Formats: sequence, C-alpha cells, structure tokens
Amino acid sequence: MTSNGTPAGSTEPVQIDTTKAHAARVYDYLLGGRANYEVDREAAERAYAAWPGGIDAVRSDVREHRATLGRVIRYFVRDAGITQLLDIGTGIPGQDSVHEVAQRETPGTRVVYVDRDPVVQAHADQLLRQAPEGAIRFVCGDLRDPQPILREAAATLDFARPVAVLLFGILHFFADADDPRGLIGQLMAPLVPGSCLALTHLASDLHPDELSETFDRLNSAMAESVTLRSRGEVAALLGGLDLAEPGVVQATQWRPDPGTAVPESQVWCGVGRKIS
Ligand SMILES: C[S@@+](CC[C@H](N)C(=O)[O-])C[C@H]1O[C@@H](n2cnc3c(N)ncnc32)[C@H](O)[C@@H]1O
Repeated sequence: MTSNGTPAGSTEPVQIDTTKAHAARVYDYLLGGRANYEVDREAAERAYAAWPGGIDAVRSDVREHRATLGRVIRYFVRDAGITQLLDIGTGIPGQDSVHEVAQRETPGTRVVYVDRDPVVQAHADQLLRQAPEGAIRFVCGDLRDPQPILREAAATLDFARPVAVLLFGILHFFADADDPRGLIGQLMAPLVPGSCLALTHLASDLHPDELSETFDRLNSAMAESVTLRSRGEVAALLGGLDLAEPGVVQATQWRPDPGTAVPESQVWCGVGRKIS
C-alpha cells in the first residue's frame, strides 16, 4: 500500500485552499460526505438552485453517476476480464470505492487511484492503510501531465496486460485548449490492445439552458472551470477506440441493471477498447 505525491512522505502540512470551491469537495458534499468546507457547500447550494428540482435532484444524479461507475467496473472485471484499473480523478473515497466494487467481483484486482486534490490524498492515505499490501495505490498527480502518472502506475499495474482507464467526471474540467484528446492519446499509448477507456462527461446538449446557468454560477465560485460538451464531442474523445455497446449514451442508460428504473441523466458515458 503506497501513497505517492508531493506531500507524501514529507512533514510539510498539506495546503488546502478554502478561498474557492474545489470539485472533489463539492462532489463530496453532493454525495452527503463530510470532507467539504463552507465555500464548497455555498457554491453548490447557490449554483444548483438553478437546477430543475434543485439540489436534491442533483444529489440523485450524482448517486446515479456512482451507480454507473459501479456497472462499468463490473463490466471490466467480470465481462471483459480486465483486472487492472487506473482511476484518474478519483474524488474523495466513500462507500463503494473502485477497488471495493472491483475486488468484490474479482478479488486481486489491482487499482491505481490518481487525483491532484490534497483532501483526496489525505482520505486515500487513510483508506490505503486498511487495504491489502500491493493491490492498490494512490498517486498524487495531474492529468495535465500524464507521463508521471503512467510511470507511477507501472509500479502497481502490469502494462504487458490490459488496463482499464477510468476518467469519470474529470474531462469536463479540461477546456479544448488543454487538448483532452491529446492527453487521452498519451494515456492510452503505452497500453496493450484490449485495454479500455471509460469516461463520463457533463452534457451541453441535454438541458442546455439549466446546465449553462448552473455552471456559470459554479464556475465563478470554483477553482476548476467546467466545459460542457455535446454527445458528438464526447464521442470524439473516444475516437480511435472500438466503442462498446450501447455507445455514448446518458450515463443511466449505459447497461442498466435489468429491472431497474432508468432516470434521465445530464452526463454522457462511453467505453472504448483499444484494438491496435
Ligand atoms: C467530480 S469528481 C469525480 C469523482 C469520481 N471519479 C466519480 O466519478 O465519482 C472529479 C475529480 O477530478 C479531480 N480532478 C480535476 N482535475 C484534475 C486533474 N487535472 N488531474 C487530476 N485530478 C483532477 C478532482 O480533484 C475531483 O476529485
């Protein structure tokens, strides 16, 4: 069990910015967690007041998003036989963390978590203390710079075997000028065919008016700005990969569990497989 990153192993106190809301902490607040600050709660309450159904509707969307993550993990470890996961933009760990869902299905699944937020790191450190040695690792890293992430991940994941990369709820923090497609290309380049990428992304074309008002408000309060994208733009991020059925769809529609309700979602989801 290892945690790695700037503050890891150092005696420097972690610097937490409470002047602006941060994505990991706002998301934690929406999930009912306690690793958030007044600035995060205020930003969320103010921004999501513009949402149809208000903040309770957003909370339910966020829980659906986590449920989609669970289905995608189970698809990888059970159906696709991939037992190595690289989860970038992990968020503050709570119930049903990626390794818990994966290892419940397939014990021994290896997971590398990556996030750049120091609050995520502090919580991941705690979680890792209870995890079996060697199977999971937290890397403090920034997706804007994929090479160190890949180097650190290679200490836990065997790159000679397929790896599934999870980019859940992170790419909308990248403007077009950040070249998200190029960053994905760098991440996937060293992975063998059969490796996969799964992503979710806030939609610009599902409830355009409500979403743009909400995110205008949120962006003015947050350290990270959100860029909404259309289904076509999200599909382009998966370009060059073989799209798993049912393609790029609302997150709730991505292989829903039989017999469960499929509510509307404001988030696109897609899974692609590297073929060569
Ligand atoms: C909305 S949360 C998503 C959490 C989790 N993946 C999920 O879907 O439930 C987004 C996470 O991405 C992280 N993040 C944002 N930009 C990042 C970057 N450039 N590099 C690494 N992590 C980043 C934030 O710190 C936050 O924890």
